[in-house]
Amino acid sequence: DMGGHDTYMHKEIHEQAEAVDRVLRGRIDDRFSTVHLGGLNLDARDARAVRRVKILGCGTSYHAGQIGAQMIEELARIPADAEPASEFRYRNAVVDPDTLYIAVSQSGETYDVLAAVQELKRKGARVLGIVNVVGSAIAREADGGMYVHAGPEVCVVSTKCFTNTCVAFALLALHLGRTRDLSVRDGKRIIEGLRKLPAQIAEMLEQEEDVKKLAAQYADARSMLFIGRVRGYPVAREASLKLKEVSYIHAEAYPASELKHGPLALIEPALPTVAIVPDDDLLEKNRAAMEEIKARSGQILAVAHQEQEKADHTIVVPKNEDELDPILMGIPLQLLAYHTALALGRDIDKPRNLAKSVTVE
Ligand code: M6R
Repeated sequence: DMGGHDTYMHKEIHEQAEAVDRVLRGRIDDRFSTVHLGGLNLDARDARAVRRVKILGCGTSYHAGQIGAQMIEELARIPADAEPASEFRYRNAVVDPDTLYIAVSQSGETYDVLAAVQELKRKGARVLGIVNVVGSAIAREADGGMYVHAGPEVCVVSTKCFTNTCVAFALLALHLGRTRDLSVRDGKRIIEGLRKLPAQIAEMLEQEEDVKKLAAQYADARSMLFIGRVRGYPVAREASLKLKEVSYIHAEAYPASELKHGPLALIEPALPTVAIVPDDDLLEKNRAAMEEIKARSGQILAVAHQEQEKADHTIVVPKNEDELDPILMGIPLQLLAYHTALALGRDIDKPRNLAKSVTVE
């Protein structure tokens, strides 16, 4: 049942305010400015003993893991990184007992992720699952974890589950932070930010008509470049994946900081750039990157917290806390991918060559 929407993708994009509300529900502890995550099976002493965090997932779940890794580093100050599970499982990785491994999967059935979890457990590692489908293989195999409560996701292209997984990571990062050195004040600040998300998502989705008009302008591009740095970079990567899988337009994501080391050579009027420009301490650096692109007659669509004069168009996203901004910045880019695909007449819920869950090698 599409509930009045023409595609599941559209329906699922519009379910996000409600979905985020669900992942937060019952978990926030205002008294201690932290969150309760009952299913983690990780007591405060275990949490303090974690020396590193390694996040494994594929596709969109891997990108949510990259955002999650940054949140864990920022809020808990634990070194963290994400890697495609499909790579990890084939490289005879060093498995370290002081590392907390986290497997991320919407379906909970992706074979590459499941195989990575099994290999880790065989080597005695502790593995948590951040999973959407309750009772799925990865959820059962993990030592503990969190459900992301996005609700059923039907479209092959993941949207609401990405957003909810990022929010789940914010909760985990806050929890790990508060067992360590994150202050009560910062804990409160993040909690307030999390509570603002559903209304801000709804506000963002009200701009759909504007995004649709922009999508019409870019739909004839043969290729698009997505740039961002630090917090904005995984957002750029996810937006690039969204666009290519649903519209079949080639897209590439690059750190804005790396432009001058190569990709600047590609800039010309026929290659539009989408720039992720959060209002954080890298704003001036991002403006400088946009200037470099403009100087070479590149078109720019900025996703930012205020109008960007260097850009041809700006999608203005409501501001939250710096650490949580990537969550909101992903949403207009889902709409951009959706409306580009719609303008091109693509099979939105079932893009060619793809399956919702990849349960084979
Ligand atoms: O079910 P999972 O989260 O484990 O799936 C992982 C990827 O196959 C998935 O995210 C894929 O990249 C989607 N088509 C993205 O929209």
